[in-house]
Amino acid sequence: MLRFAVVRNEGQSEGSALTLTQGTNPSTFGTFLTGQTAIVTGAGRGIGRAIALAFAKAGATVVLASRTGEHLAATEAEIRDAGGQAMAVPTDVTDGSAIRGLVARALAETSRLDILVNNAGVFLWKALANLDEAEWDRILDTNLKAAYLLIHAALPALIRTGRGRILNVSSIHGTIGDANVVAHCAAKFGLIGLTKALARELREVGVSVNALGPGSTDNVTRHRESPHHDSPLKEKLFAEDIAGAALFLVSPAAATISGAVLDIWGGTHVSIKG
Ligand SMILES: NC(=O)c1ccc[n+]([C@@H]2O[C@H](COP(=O)([O-])OP(=O)(O)OC[C@H]3O[C@@H](n4cnc5c(N)ncnc54)[C@H](OP(=O)(O)O)[C@@H]3O)[C@@H](O)[C@H]2O)c1
Repeated sequence: MLRFAVVRNEGQSEGSALTLTQGTNPSTFGTFLTGQTAIVTGAGRGIGRAIALAFAKAGATVVLASRTGEHLAATEAEIRDAGGQAMAVPTDVTDGSAIRGLVARALAETSRLDILVNNAGVFLWKALANLDEAEWDRILDTNLKAAYLLIHAALPALIRTGRGRILNVSSIHGTIGDANVVAHCAAKFGLIGLTKALARELREVGVSVNALGPGSTDNVTRHRESPHHDSPLKEKLFAEDIAGAALFLVSPAAATISGAVLDIWGGTHVSIKG
């Protein structure tokens, strides 16, 4: 049985963020990804950074991909300083040859690939009447086509591990349509379609495919700088909340789950109708 102690971080006041640490039982929660390699796109900041940190804390070697090298270097340093393993590979996920290079680099350095997280994304509030073709392409290429390109490049390696896992970061806008985000909704609904169809296609080869559906998430404030969630279902989401759900979906506890969309809405105010 796993046991955890709840501890308060140094300097935190009553009601501030709590951390779960492993208790006296030698069974491990923190190392269930040891020996595994994960690629996380958009890992330079926000939700991708939080997912990369969570996976590294669970023992994975994390390959960090996004365009801005200095952001990746900061995430890499944060993981290494905490005793984890990470490798930054600056990559534009809309560029097929860069993506193939990313996967090749991950395999050259670690010889395996167990987990792929398609998290990189861009957002644009704009009415369709004002949306030009280049903007439509940028939203669709980054949020949807990149997932196809990455999965296509990574699939042989994910199959080789015998239990590969693909996580696609969709959105509340992947299940609920909203005004002025038509391109974003088209991409995020598409990502869920890709997830559900591919889950069926890959069941026989042992690769799971799941999606996350975050609600509105504070992607700037670090958890430790924020008040503790006294009522998490009513309060705003932080990137670490999404990372917790990602960690669950790559854990042994989720071994039989594929084709699922895990909504993480916290206190997101849903005023829009489906
Ligand atoms: N925050 C929210 O409220 C929310 C809600 C629902 C869903 N989501 C989804 O969660 C994911 C992460 O969102 P976030 O809030 O963490 O966003 P963010 O802070 O803006 O981070 C986006 C990440 O994607 C990377 N990226 C963008 N275009 C890229 C490209 N062409 N190639 C490689 N990397 C690229 C960015 O790095 P570079 O710019 O350096 O490349 C950055 O690391 C997105 O898919 C988003 O749609 C977010």
